[in-house]
Amino acid sequence: AQVDKAGYKHFMAKEIAEQPAVIGTTLDRYLDAEGRIHLPANGLDFARIDRISMVACGTASYACQVAKYWFEQLARLPVDVDIASEFRYREPPFVANTTALFVSQSGETADTLAALRYCAEQGLQIASLTNVPESSIARESDVALPIEAGVEIGVASTKAFTCQLTALFIMALKAAQVRGTLTPAQIADHLVQLRQLPGLINATLSLSDRIEDVSRKLAEARDVLFLGRGALYPLALEGALKLKEISYIHAEGYASGELKHGPIALIDRKVPVVVLAPTDPLFDKTVSNMQEVLAREGKVILITDAAGAKRAGEGAAHVITLPEIPPALAPILYAIPAQLLAYHTAVAKGTDVDQPRNLAKSVTVE
Ligand code: G6P
Repeated sequence: AQVDKAGYKHFMAKEIAEQPAVIGTTLDRYLDAEGRIHLPANGLDFARIDRISMVACGTASYACQVAKYWFEQLARLPVDVDIASEFRYREPPFVANTTALFVSQSGETADTLAALRYCAEQGLQIASLTNVPESSIARESDVALPIEAGVEIGVASTKAFTCQLTALFIMALKAAQVRGTLTPAQIADHLVQLRQLPGLINATLSLSDRIEDVSRKLAEARDVLFLGRGALYPLALEGALKLKEISYIHAEGYASGELKHGPIALIDRKVPVVVLAPTDPLFDKTVSNMQEVLAREGKVILITDAAGAKRAGEGAAHVITLPEIPPALAPILYAIPAQLLAYHTAVAKGTDVDQPRNLAKSVTVE
């Protein structure tokens, strides 16, 4: 079926706005009304998996990096994450009972597919998470899981990313259930919170005008840093990737704790620093990194919640206040302001948001 912009100025804007609905579809796909998790029966037996090797490119690889925190923290299941172009030529060895998981919006990325074929030759169980059930990656998998994001047209991935995260979080919960690392009550709590995600994303989307104001300032920058800790670190990488892809502003994502090992040398009043900091157990550490930026006259754009704004808002040039969310789900919600910052900055600069120069939606050649 032909997909149109449905009144939006760009596909990217439409796809950002669709997230509450499509995440709802992903949830319905994997959870029933009684709150039970349904993954394909022939599929992943987390009791017999000792390690997961996740492989992807671009934005999908950042979804894997977030998932590593979830699988390791919730299910105590070790995860390796690789970008496919490196993995495929490294000829990595595997420990017994490793399952390989390939994450790809299109299911056609050449490097990811080559990595899959390498793992299949090694005799690994092959699982995949794609947005296209007929894709090569899905077809060549032992277990092919869909994300149900609907067709994504904007070259910069948005709704596919948050649907990938949602499906990966459910898989991590399933692993925790099977491996007995969370109690049934803890799992039930996570599932109740997961159901609140579409509403929280909706509330976050209503901050679009506020983020547009901040973006007009960001559009003047030559370099931008994104900082985050824990599972928000991959979101810092994703925020920087989105911004550079569509606004052509040089941006880098860093783990907050790594600031003093290099990027702090760049800080001056001309380099905006976007700090992604929900109030979680690592909040105070991130705030002290933010202080280091402020002490060097850096302009901080703090993305946090109301409690975080109260504790740390002073000194920041801009504070974007998101709804409160349980720390485990914060990486999904904090994707929204990262997308909106990139989108509005690109619009302010007048770049081609949906078809940025030199980039392709699906990289099917090496
Ligand atoms: C391209 C796209 C990105 C995407 C990446 C991986 O670079 O521009 O948005 O994240 O490919 O694509 P895949 O279809 O494998 O997720």
